[in-house]
Amino acid sequence: MPRPQRRPSRGELIATRALDRFVGRREQVAMFARNLAKDPLSPTDPAAYLFHVRGVGGVGKSTLLRQWREAARQAGAVTAVVDENDVHGVLSAMVALSRQLAAQTRPLKSFDRAVEQCRREREAAARPTDLDGAADDGPSVTSRAISRAVVGGTTALLPGGGAIATMVDPDAVAEGMDHAFDRVRNRRARGRGTERDTVSREFVATLDELCAEHPWVVLFLDTWEQTGRHLDAWLRAMLCDGFGPLPVNVMIVLAGRDDLTREWGGLMAAQGRDVPLEAFTEQETRELLARRGVTEPGTVEAVARLSMGLPLLADILALARPESAAAVDADGDSVDTAVERFVRWIADPLRREVVLTCALAPRLNADVFAAVVPEEGRGLWEWLCGQPFVSGSGDFKRYHAVVRAGMVRRERARSPRGWTAVHLRLADAHAAWAADIERNLPDDGHRQDARWRCHRLDEMYHRLCAHPGGALAEALTEAVDAGEDGPETLREWSDAFTQAALDTHDETLGVWAGRLREATATGEDPVSAVLGVLLTHRTLTPAAQVRAHLVRGGHLELA
Ligand SMILES: Nc1ncnc2c1ncn2[C@@H]1O[C@H](COP(=O)(O)OP(=O)(O)OP(=O)(O)O)[C@@H](O)[C@H]1O
Ligand SMILES: [Mg+2]
Repeated sequence: MPRPQRRPSRGELIATRALDRFVGRREQVAMFARNLAKDPLSPTDPAAYLFHVRGVGGVGKSTLLRQWREAARQAGAVTAVVDENDVHGVLSAMVALSRQLAAQTRPLKSFDRAVEQCRREREAAARPTDLDGAADDGPSVTSRAISRAVVGGTTALLPGGGAIATMVDPDAVAEGMDHAFDRVRNRRARGRGTERDTVSREFVATLDELCAEHPWVVLFLDTWEQTGRHLDAWLRAMLCDGFGPLPVNVMIVLAGRDDLTREWGGLMAAQGRDVPLEAFTEQETRELLARRGVTEPGTVEAVARLSMGLPLLADILALARPESAAAVDADGDSVDTAVERFVRWIADPLRREVVLTCALAPRLNADVFAAVVPEEGRGLWEWLCGQPFVSGSGDFKRYHAVVRAGMVRRERARSPRGWTAVHLRLADAHAAWAADIERNLPDDGHRQDARWRCHRLDEMYHRLCAHPGGALAEALTEAVDAGEDGPETLREWSDAFTQAALDTHDETLGVWAGRLREATATGEDPVSAVLGVLLTHRTLTPAAQVRAHLVRGGHLELA
């Protein structure tokens, strides 16, 4: 709720409008509000501290979470919400959560210091040294021997395994290896897990401080079917005081498409609540349509049938304000049909073009919007943000994945040349923004800059979409840089690559996405696994191969 003493921002107005569009789910909303009023230590009726909202895509989990978050705020809680866009590992999740908690309270300095320390240690340990650097006493015999074998054209096994081909100056390569091996040794002494545990302890200590000042701290972890892959074990450990005593007024809300695993049984039994969300009843669908101004009985019935009560589809169909049942009645009931119908009903050609063009960008902000829509559509940013299929709590807005997939399929088939042109325009824009950040940061500082990494990945995604074959080699080389920066950055790279494979339907990209999935599913360290696959298929340039071996070697030594 906007505070009365100051004028609301545009973002707050858009968020309020989204809350106003909320329909139904009365039982779940009332239950959550009642729970906030309970005492977690009550011997007779303690508050639940763990919720699991589950249901199919588009049923309204994230929408319910937004409503619950507002209820929590009104009850004086500090809150934070993360989804698959913020979470690439435990560290990025904690950072995203704490940033939001800090924005509502005060700077969380000791946590920030712990993260900074962890980053510095990781960076020092993981990054192999500059291959041109000279060491005083020259490279060791082992390294020299390995690199001679490499440069001589014979195959040699480096710590990461696999063969590398002919390459530059052998002594320079050997020196690089010595530095890398030293760092690996140092890092092994420290132990990889402990850095993360130190930050987790600081995170829990921070929650403890905030819990002393506020009735609740509520953490919403959305899209759990994806975020849980990284956070599941860590969160269970945290709830069992694995990183220090967790205060009783921390509340955790998970939302995802799947059931929780068996390991959650005990925690759910102890004051956990399972909240299954079903499709809307006919009454709720009618209510949603009435709110959107669709009341003609035949039309209501047709929308209810085509949407199957799925709020996402009901909403986008209602949005187009169909005037008759005949306009709704479809020959199929798929998402594509609903999307197609929705697009057809946008009467203004400019708005239609804006909606479809922006669908090609996986994440949007006002800059991306301005770079991609025609000049005359620039004033439509706020209109687009107000559409029910557009959401986003952090720096970016996104289309709902189901709607976006439908529109992307449609655009790719409708105009292949238009598809390529839009992706190239976006790739060039991201390249220019990344270069701008690079110019304004000293030395190699941009590599640690989250905005710079976003631009690099978005550029890669769009180049792959524009020309899958032509951009593949460069994209795979980018994986080596990402691997050097650590497993979380590599996951971001892998997510962007996989998205490009899905969106292009390109066979070669699909094969690569499959290989990456297989490699990371083994439970092996993701950096070694992905770099191992790249090296096995010999796709990298010789220089990238050497770097890949060094990075991978370091990770395998640690395992
Ligand atoms: N209670 C509701 N009232 C009004 N509209 C709703 C409601 N629930 C869902 N919607 C509509 O459905 C859309 C999709 O809902 P939401 O994003 O919450 O689904 P989800 O379950 O989180 O899906 P996913 O599993 O793909 O993340 C919303 O943008 C909104 O248009
Ligand atoms: Mg969701």
